Amino acid sequence: MNKKKILILGASGFVGNAIYKELCSYFDTYGTYFSNRSFASNQQYFRYDVEEDDIFQLLERIRPDIIISALRGNFPAQIQAHHHIMEYLVTSKARLYFISSANVFDAYSKFPSYEFDKTLSESVYGRLKIKIENMMMRMPKEKWAILRVPMVFGNTSPRIREIKANLENKEPIEVFPNLIINVTNDDRLTQQLHYLINRNKTGIYHLGSEDLIQHEEFIKEVIQRMGNYHPIFKRVYTTNEDRYLAALPKENKLPKNLRISYQEIIDHHIPV
Ligand SMILES: NC(=O)c1ccc[n+]([C@@H]2O[C@H](COP(=O)([O-])OP(=O)(O)OC[C@H]3O[C@@H](n4cnc5c(N)ncnc54)[C@H](OP(=O)(O)O)[C@@H]3O)[C@@H](O)[C@H]2O)c1
Repeated sequence: MNKKKILILGASGFVGNAIYKELCSYFDTYGTYFSNRSFASNQQYFRYDVEEDDIFQLLERIRPDIIISALRGNFPAQIQAHHHIMEYLVTSKARLYFISSANVFDAYSKFPSYEFDKTLSESVYGRLKIKIENMMMRMPKEKWAILRVPMVFGNTSPRIREIKANLENKEPIEVFPNLIINVTNDDRLTQQLHYLINRNKTGIYHLGSEDLIQHEEFIKEVIQRMGNYHPIFKRVYTTNEDRYLAALPKENKLPKNLRISYQEIIDHHIPV
């Protein structure tokens, strides 16, 4: 068997671990963890600290064909690490899949954004993603895929767990009434990535729901689905007008069976 070797950076995290679970039966899959010691005894996992360790050494040791970056951590260190990943890409046949964010467009507010729209961000987080994206785009196209992802929900997602904890503790839940978003969940996101890997797809992908909803409305529907709660909301108004934080596909659409709507997420991926 000649299985592709995959290394997931941040494989102990919410998104990275969901990706690991989706891919590990099909590929020779490795992952990194940082503080979550429950992965320490797992032979497929390596400890990696973005601030202290040189990613190049780990790459030389594992020699992955595919690198998936789902990291958090110190921003300058993340940039440095991705520089080193690019160096590895040059010396190998490997390809990088980078989990980016809809926040690369968070400075634009009047419309949803599409794959080839110019990125512009007002947040340090969005600007970090843009920096890494721009580094990648300078590489040959067959070397990279940028996956722009909106807020990820799902049964075990930190976002849902936080809402649940707030409900139980009768603490306020932040909602953004005039923010129009799209959303996704961990299952669909990992299936989409699996498809992109199988088909050797590269380029820019917007992996959110096809439809849009106001943040406040979405959170309210999620809570209704969770049970009979009496939530306290803290409404956060960032502007007076409607603002979009949504990355929609136009050029690089996925097959119909891999798309998702926000209603499907509410109906099937929220714990009742
Ligand atoms: N969740 C979302 O809604 C969402 C939406 C859009 C994009 N994304 C992107 O998806 C990626 C993963 O996000 P997530 O929500 O899955 O985050 P997460 O659950 O916090 O996972 C972060 C991962 O990074 C690792 N990490 C943290 N600090 C590190 C350090 N100093 N050195 C090395 N590794 C370190 C963590 O390891 P330990 O846990 O072992 O410490 C974990 O594996 C991020 O790039 C994020 O921008 C997430």
